[in-house]
Amino acid sequence: MAIIQTYPTPDELARAAADHFAALSQEAIANHSHFSVALAGGSTPRATYEILATIEYAQKVNWERVHVFWGDERMFSPEHEDSNYRLAADAMLKVIPISKDNIHRILGEAKPQDAARAYEGTIREFFNPHTTSFDLILLGMGDDGHTASLFPGTMAVHEDTLQVMAHFVEKLAAWRVTFTPRLINAAKNVTFLVSGERKARRLRQVLVGPYQPEVLPAQIVRPSRGHLRWLIDEAAALHL
Ligand code: 6PG
Repeated sequence: MAIIQTYPTPDELARAAADHFAALSQEAIANHSHFSVALAGGSTPRATYEILATIEYAQKVNWERVHVFWGDERMFSPEHEDSNYRLAADAMLKVIPISKDNIHRILGEAKPQDAARAYEGTIREFFNPHTTSFDLILLGMGDDGHTASLFPGTMAVHEDTLQVMAHFVEKLAAWRVTFTPRLINAAKNVTFLVSGERKARRLRQVLVGPYQPEVLPAQIVRPSRGHLRWLIDEAAALHL
């Protein structure tokens, strides 16, 4: 069952998400000495990353024990302005005391299929093969109902063998590398961050409408044993 938490403004949503990240990191590090987190791309999480990069959060997150991954990549070089890696690097990673060895980026500059295969290997190597389960996967939701790079009408939504895949997204006329539902739904915690009135109608369809993941890929996110949370602001909650 999903937990939905609504906050008055985007800033309060961002701070709540930073507190959620910090709390889960403390729990994971206490339980198994590290915190594995897959970051979301897009614009919504930037404010959360910036808050996590402040001195206040240096006391709350033991960055030496944090391993950062990405749930998807737009297949640009790490310096490119549209790179999901660069978004997190500029907002957070460049200013926090995290080892470069703990930053596991998708090779956006590589051939998509090679990048996907390499990333699946990185993930298998990191996790004990029997428990490939992220402590936290952060996700956004597009106004078309996509999440990560699982887009409407794509086969990626029903991929159940691979954990990471590359696919050409017709709608974007671009390649993407993305976690598959299999990997997302194995996580201990999956948390969506959704902000803004432009998402409100789609969010209602996703949360209370009929189950149709080919049309609304965010619906495919149903962690088998983990916790699913939606942290949203009041603008996005307008039609709930
Ligand atoms: C991406 C993201 C994508 C994003 C949504 C929401 O690469 O774009 O992974 O899934 O989370 O498109 O994006 P906004 O936060 O910019 O609305």
